[in-house]
Amino acid sequence: MKILGIETSCDETSAAVVEDGRRVLSNVVATQTEIHRKYGGVVPEIASRAHLEALVPVVAEALQQARLDMQAIDAMAVVNRPGLIGSLLLGVTAAKTLAWLHDRPLVGLNHVECHIYAACLERDELPFPCVALIVSGGHTSLYLCASPLNQTLLGATTDDAAGEAFDKVASLLGLEYPGGPSVDRAAEHGSPAAVRFSRPWLAADSFDFSFSGLKTAVLYHVRGHGADVKKRAAHLSEREVADVAASFQECVVDVLVGKTLRAAEVHGLDRIIVGGGVAANRRLRARLRQETRDAGIELLLPQMRYCTDNAAMVAGLAYHDVQTGRVSGLDLEARA
Ligand code: KG4
Ligand code: ZN
Repeated sequence: MKILGIETSCDETSAAVVEDGRRVLSNVVATQTEIHRKYGGVVPEIASRAHLEALVPVVAEALQQARLDMQAIDAMAVVNRPGLIGSLLLGVTAAKTLAWLHDRPLVGLNHVECHIYAACLERDELPFPCVALIVSGGHTSLYLCASPLNQTLLGATTDDAAGEAFDKVASLLGLEYPGGPSVDRAAEHGSPAAVRFSRPWLAADSFDFSFSGLKTAVLYHVRGHGADVKKRAAHLSEREVADVAASFQECVVDVLVGKTLRAAEVHGLDRIIVGGGVAANRRLRARLRQETRDAGIELLLPQMRYCTDNAAMVAGLAYHDVQTGRVSGLDLEARA
């Protein structure tokens, strides 16, 4: 079964064709990073307009790369929640139109559940049951997953998402947009032990996360007393920026890795999936590899291109919905 997936929940316009849930025939991603760079963040109205321009060519390119036409597509899949409402509406309207025009089933999916599924793409076996850590610009959540369609939330962020903290700290340090990859690069030349930020573990048995206090601690560290943040950041040496970036990153990674491994231990599972944009972070990947190996746990990290937003994870997960009859009607709505 071949499914055409569409993802437009934030600032990437993506379309993909995936066969039988795991074989990626094409995955086209048009990113808007350059458009939003001068604003230092995603501007929702501009994002919607950019999706409108990109959607038709991106869908056409996904079909062309898969060497298929719409007649060969068995179902349409689209992320309809959560995300920026204007952006979601574009993808949902496109998917509905194609489903109606070609009389194909339509599946609406949850973006975060698609991120979990990204680790299943291009694998022979489905890796369930497992613990899944999803770390993106909008989410930091730990799930217990029994199957692709059966997840139980163990804990989530009580304030900022991990990716959001990376983005804000990058901006405090005067690093370029988008922030996550900039902190990752800057940290490579710094010492993770240079600044000892306290670890936000919350209650001993809690699987929730909190990164806003850490962000404030970085702010005070950079600002010192009284001075303007931008001026202070400009006066930091390259070495100091690298040290703060590495120390901040180590703090986030300690908490993410610590809680994820404990969730596996508490629930007696020996498999961990990680997904979302922050799963592209090199220090997080290295520490997860090391510590899961030491604990005898199997680690499934998506390929880099399936960590950040993409439609392959959408078309892949939708296969399981179609197989179990969980299809949506043409009244499918976008939900912010
Ligand atoms: O999953 P994603 O593409 O979009 C959302 O669903 O939010 O994640 C984007 C987030 C951004 O906050 C970005 O800064 C972060 O992922 N990110 C990273 C890295 N690459 C992307 N954070 C840390 N290190 C990276 N290498
Ligand atoms: Zn995402």
